[in-house]
Amino acid sequence: MSLPQPAADATILITGASSGIGEELAHQLAAKGHNVVLVARRVDRLRALADDLQRRHGIRADVLPADLGDPAARERLVTEIDGLDLSMSAVINNAGFGGSGFFARSDQETEREMVRVNVDALHHLTGAFVPGLVERGEGAVLNVASLAASQPLPLFATYAATKAFVLSFSEALHAELSGTGVSVTALCPGPVPTEFGERAGMGDVEETLPSLATVPVEQVAREAIEGMERGRRTVTPGILMKGASLAGRYTPRAILLPLTKHGMRAI
Ligand SMILES: NC(=O)c1ccc[n+]([C@@H]2O[C@H](COP(=O)([O-])OP(=O)(O)OC[C@H]3O[C@@H](n4cnc5c(N)ncnc54)[C@H](OP(=O)(O)O)[C@@H]3O)[C@@H](O)[C@H]2O)c1
Repeated sequence: MSLPQPAADATILITGASSGIGEELAHQLAAKGHNVVLVARRVDRLRALADDLQRRHGIRADVLPADLGDPAARERLVTEIDGLDLSMSAVINNAGFGGSGFFARSDQETEREMVRVNVDALHHLTGAFVPGLVERGEGAVLNVASLAASQPLPLFATYAATKAFVLSFSEALHAELSGTGVSVTALCPGPVPTEFGERAGMGDVEETLPSLATVPVEQVAREAIEGMERGRRTVTPGILMKGASLAGRYTPRAILLPLTKHGMRAI
């Protein structure tokens, strides 16, 4: 068991809890009796979620709004979390977004913001909380990467590169922390019907994919939590997605890159 049992004086930090995978992780963890700290920018959504979780499950849910792309806001967040006087049993770095299109034609500020949120914030919060977990000798980190971490993705270049960072960093930490009681798990979902596609400028792309090519958000969260409980290195929900991940890793780049460029253009 790597994710500690729920305790009244402990909590789980979940970034990107205002929608999608983060919101569902909050529901499932609260149902198991864990307290949660909910972080994102849309504070109304976080407050509504916190009220719902407290009413339904009798847990403590703290709301700490923050723009994770802003290093100063991240520093404030870490101080606020320290001030809650709760120990951290797990850290879930889930907040993130994508953007599709040719890099040369993309808005460069949005591309840089993607690196700040998907990479810098995850690295910052992992560094802020992992030393405390190691000192206590227990805890779990879940870093949300993507199937896109398995390969470079033309027309999704920055996003795939940010997720390759998340996967590489998390797998290395998993090995470093072996024997400390602390686990690091990288979650690598394929397409999941959330607000992600809309935000990435791909419309409701998940709706147009065959149902077998997407994995429901409830399953993604369930498998992610099981992965944290067992201290697994990576979790790729869905059998088809496991196959796609292997194909992405081992297909020669000279074949893979033109194929993925063609595929991404069709979306
Ligand atoms: N859906 C997919 O197909 C898919 C596949 C693989 C991986 N993922 C990854 O899964 C994670 C969750 O995505 P999702 O699918 O659940 O998408 P989503 O519904 O769009 O949720 C994204 C979450 O990230 C938060 N966020 C974005 N920018 C932020 C910022 N600057 N500061 C604080 N919070 C921020 C959003 O909250 P606010 O807007 O309220 O700040 C929201 O809660 C992401 O890391 C994504 O890359 C998604």
